[in-house]
Amino acid sequence: MKKDHQKHIAIFASGKGSNAQAIIDYFKDNDHIKIALIVTNNKEAGVIQIAKDHRIPFDIVSSKELKDEEILDMLDVYEIDLIVLAGFLLLVPAFLVKAYPDKIINIHPALLPKHGGKGMYGKYVHEAVLADKDTESGITIHYVNEHYDEGTYIAQIRCHVESGDTVETLSARVHQLEHEHYPKEIEKLLTS
Ligand code: GRF
Repeated sequence: MKKDHQKHIAIFASGKGSNAQAIIDYFKDNDHIKIALIVTNNKEAGVIQIAKDHRIPFDIVSSKELKDEEILDMLDVYEIDLIVLAGFLLLVPAFLVKAYPDKIINIHPALLPKHGGKGMYGKYVHEAVLADKDTESGITIHYVNEHYDEGTYIAQIRCHVESGDTVETLSARVHQLEHEHYPKEIEKLLTS
């Protein structure tokens, strides 16, 4: 049961879950904002262990199940106010976008609109930044619509691309930005 004035977050993630971990850590002593549910489409995802470690309920959904409106019932049960995508690789179905208007957000590890869209995730994004010889990269936090990486921007934070950067060094710098800024932007959205 939700306490008065408490806001509930569902994190959707497909991979390692370092952003999920950063968000959980950031809100661990916050009485008003709670990570109430973790959803993944990948039964091997590191985020499952993170959910278990923190005793957060989790659900593994297939891409077919994600397209089934029954998922709305689960989000209702956990009284979700905000859906936070953190490395979630499936497209959010239109009915879910409609049911949660401006209540679904995503983080992308580059400065959109460059290097976004279907198939642009993880190392592919950083490879594209390096191949284009961009001098800066960063993160984009944005609302989610029916298309990959296209919703209205909430925040963009930049970092330099250093000469000699590799996918690994650039990815580490961008991940650091993500861990620092994503929780704060979530907090702003839920308290404004
Ligand atoms: C992050 O770089 C995020 O921007 C992207 O997917 C990655 C997820 O990383 N959407 P992690 O699983 O949170 O470590």
